Amino acid sequence: MVEECQNDAENRETLVAVNHLTKSFSIGKRNVHKAVDDVSFRIYKGEVFGLVGESGSGKSTVANCVMNLCKPDSGEILYKEIDTCCSKEFRKNKKMLQCERQIIFQDSTSSLNPRMKVKDILTEPFRIQHITPKRGTLSAEAAFQLTYVGLDNSYLEKYPSELSGGQRQRVAIARAVAMEPELLVADEPIASLDVSIQAQIVNLFRHLQKEHGFSFLFIAHDLSMVRFLCDRVGVMHDGKLVEVGNVEDIFRHPKHPYTKALIESIPIPDPHMERQRAREKEHE
Ligand SMILES: Nc1ncnc2c1ncn2[C@@H]1O[C@H](COP(=O)(O)OP(=O)(O)OP(=O)(O)O)[C@@H](O)[C@H]1O
Ligand SMILES: [Mg+2]
Repeated sequence: MVEECQNDAENRETLVAVNHLTKSFSIGKRNVHKAVDDVSFRIYKGEVFGLVGESGSGKSTVANCVMNLCKPDSGEILYKEIDTCCSKEFRKNKKMLQCERQIIFQDSTSSLNPRMKVKDILTEPFRIQHITPKRGTLSAEAAFQLTYVGLDNSYLEKYPSELSGGQRQRVAIARAVAMEPELLVADEPIASLDVSIQAQIVNLFRHLQKEHGFSFLFIAHDLSMVRFLCDRVGVMHDGKLVEVGNVEDIFRHPKHPYTKALIESIPIPDPHMERQRAREKEHE
C-alpha cells in the first residue's frame, strides 16, 4: 500500500476516505480474481482527483464501490465520515448520499433512458428525490441546465438517439451537475468520444468544477488530460494503487516503474522532442 507524503494532507478537509478497499470477483467455480487489492486514498474537498491505469487495473471497481454500486469485500469508504459500506449507515443517509454524489459513465448511450426526452432525463433526479429545483419548475430547470452545458433549448424535446455522442455526454453531465453534487465521479467520460470533442468535454468539466467547486473523481486513460484537469492523481496497476500524489510531482518525478512506463508512453506531438526522448532513453 502506498502512503502519501504528509505535506499533501496538511490543512485539507477530506470528503472521501477509501481505506484498505478490497474487492474480488469469482471467475468460474474455483478461481477468484482480486480486482482491487488493499487500496487507500483520499479525495479532499474541492479537488480533482484522477485515477489512471491500464484496462482491467480496477479503476471502475473502485469508482463503483465509492458510489455504492458494488459492495467491497473488506475495507471502508467514508463520505463525510459516514461509512457508506455499512448498510445501516447507508440507509440512514440514503437521500443525502444519492443527491450529493453523482456519477457519469463512459457510455451515455446506455446511461440515458432511450425512451425519455432530454427535458425529462434532466429533471428525473428531482422527481425521484422529491426536490423542488432552484429554477422553480422542472421545465425551467431543464432549460437552464441544458444551456449551462452548451446546448440550446431545441434539444429539450429530443431523444438521446437524436444526439451525437458529445451532446449525449453533455446531457449526462447536466443531469449530474443539476443536483449540485459535492462529489462527482466520472468513469472514463471522454473515452468513447472523438478526439476533438474530448477536449471540449474536458474543458467543460474544468469550467464546471471551478464554478461549482465540487470534488471530482476523474477516471481516465489519457494522461495528458489528467495532467490538464487534475490536482492529484492515483496510479492503479493490477488492482493496487502503486502511486498517489500531486499530479505535477508524479509527472515530473514518477517513482514506480509502472508510472514511469505510463508517462513515457504519452505521445509527444513535436517529432523533434519525441526523437530527443528516444535518444535520452537509449543513454539510460
Ligand atoms: N462484475 C464483474 N465480474 C467479474 N469480474 C469483474 C467484474 N467487474 C470487473 N471485473 C474484473 O475486475 C478487474 C478490474 O476491472 P475494472 O472494470 O475495475 O477495471 P478498469 O481499470 O476499470 O478497466 P477499464 O480501463 O477497461 O475500464 C478486471 O479483471 C475485470 O475483468
Ligand atoms: Mg473501467
